[in-house]
Amino acid sequence: MVSLKTEVGGVILERPGMVASGIMDETGPSMVRMLENGAGAVVTKSVGLSPNAGHANPCFMEVTSGYVNAMGLPNPGIDLFKEEMDVAVPKGKIVGSIYGATPEDFSTLAGRMEDYGACAVELNLSCPHAKGYGMEVGTDPTMVKAIVSSVKDAVSIPVWAKLTPNTHILADIGRAVQDAGGDAVVAINTLKAMVISPEFARPVLSNKFGGLSGAAVKPVGVRAIYDLRTVLDIPLIGVGGISDWRDAAEYIMAGASAFQVGSAIGTVGIDVFDRINKGLEEFMSDYGYQSISSMVGVAHE
Ligand code: FUM
Repeated sequence: MVSLKTEVGGVILERPGMVASGIMDETGPSMVRMLENGAGAVVTKSVGLSPNAGHANPCFMEVTSGYVNAMGLPNPGIDLFKEEMDVAVPKGKIVGSIYGATPEDFSTLAGRMEDYGACAVELNLSCPHAKGYGMEVGTDPTMVKAIVSSVKDAVSIPVWAKLTPNTHILADIGRAVQDAGGDAVVAINTLKAMVISPEFARPVLSNKFGGLSGAAVKPVGVRAIYDLRTVLDIPLIGVGGISDWRDAAEYIMAGASAFQVGSAIGTVGIDVFDRINKGLEEFMSDYGYQSISSMVGVAHE
């Protein structure tokens, strides 16, 4: 009998696929809807200390094989987000994604997410287009270590760190997370990208550049997980361009104990998790894998 159950970074998931931060996770009802449609957990939209309107429109664009967004971390702020958590947490596992500029910001936000019932926190150290946040703090290993240490001191739920592919020192950043006691590394966030309108002779997005997600980034994400697996002992969570069971299997075989799906909720539909779960079960049964853990990292052997 094949089992999709997996343990990653201190959290046990009945199914290995989670909703990635940023889609269908801004409201309690949308998170519940995803839990009811095969997701093992939902990672919330990244939430900050105070309400944030995000970047002006246009902030989202479909491109070949993906999307480019510069939403600018819009969110209602941690106080108001309690209402959404109150709806979602009783229905399943909710991971609280948070962003900030300092270790204190992150530890305050993590404490609030713990109070709201999050099963783990995911530190957004990787948004490529929010001034003063995201990869601006997440590409300095000293800062990453300080943030993760401070959050570990502040909460007792597991602490995951979501990293950027927009760096040549991904391994050093991963080590900083591990050295500070982080429970898992999530990779990757979006690739810094731009779209230009020939007619207007200008970048399309109001922020000029944004982050590319979707099928186009999958090989970059798989490579990142493969590389991180060679240098880290803590568990990994793969994200970037997963839309079917084959994509999920690639990430698992590269070294991920679980995975997240974002853009494909838009391109495939909300049944994407049910489809992936069914496909993975059939593949595992056909190829003799009894469990997710028996598949993790096999591409390295
Ligand atoms: O702007 C955004 O809300 C995106 C966040 C991210 O890429 O982490």
